[in-house]
Amino acid sequence: MPENTGLFISFEGGEGAGKSTQIRVLAETLRARGLEVVVTREPGGSPGAEAVRHVLLSGAAEPFGVRMEAMLFAAARNDHVEEVIRPALQRGAVVLCDRFLDSSRVYQGTTGNLEPEFIETLQRIAIDGTMPDLTLIFDIAATAGLARARKRADIGATPDRFEKEELETHEKRREAYLDIALNEPRRCRIVNAEQPQEKVAEDVLSFVEPMVSKLTAISDVAE
Ligand code: TYD
Repeated sequence: MPENTGLFISFEGGEGAGKSTQIRVLAETLRARGLEVVVTREPGGSPGAEAVRHVLLSGAAEPFGVRMEAMLFAAARNDHVEEVIRPALQRGAVVLCDRFLDSSRVYQGTTGNLEPEFIETLQRIAIDGTMPDLTLIFDIAATAGLARARKRADIGATPDRFEKEELETHEKRREAYLDIALNEPRRCRIVNAEQPQEKVAEDVLSFVEPMVSKLTAISDVAE
């Protein structure tokens, strides 16, 4: 199997944290530097995973329980990794992924009350060794995040099954994300998502910059 020469960055956090906007901004910045950037998201990102996305976000899988949902998220993730993420990394691209395995740890694991071993086993199978090099955790107080998500809903988007939940649940998720960051400090960085967009973009770039410089230095040597 060819080695991964690219850079894999995942974006995590609760609803309304502004991940998608920041992914767009970062993608433009990196493309302007001549890098190949693949923007993708979960659940979904590959045709197989997009089919499962619909089942999950419509709530169609909900009656079958949270274990079933966790397995479907993992199945979608595995397809996404095999079909999109790993090939892109092998080409040397920068992959920006809106949510990845930490979402399952937080949403199905912590707030879904699934045992950590069950979640971790599923993730091992789903990612099959393809871990993000960097994970940016967008941190925002539950009240602020929910207010933003609701505003978005008012302008047309219907809140999905995972957005119709209580503040307490959001706060639990926030804590769970902060715990992941604490346990995996080499991979994770916390972004203060309550700041103005421009400042958030600056912080994001400051975390990404050193890793991108390494990437371009490697490709300079290879040429
Ligand atoms: P979406 O509207 O795509 O994302 P966002 O909230 O980031 O704007 O919804 C994805 C939902 O799926 C979100 O509420 C989190 C949930 N989710 C899980 O529960 N587990 C997972 O593994 C993933 C990837 C997402």
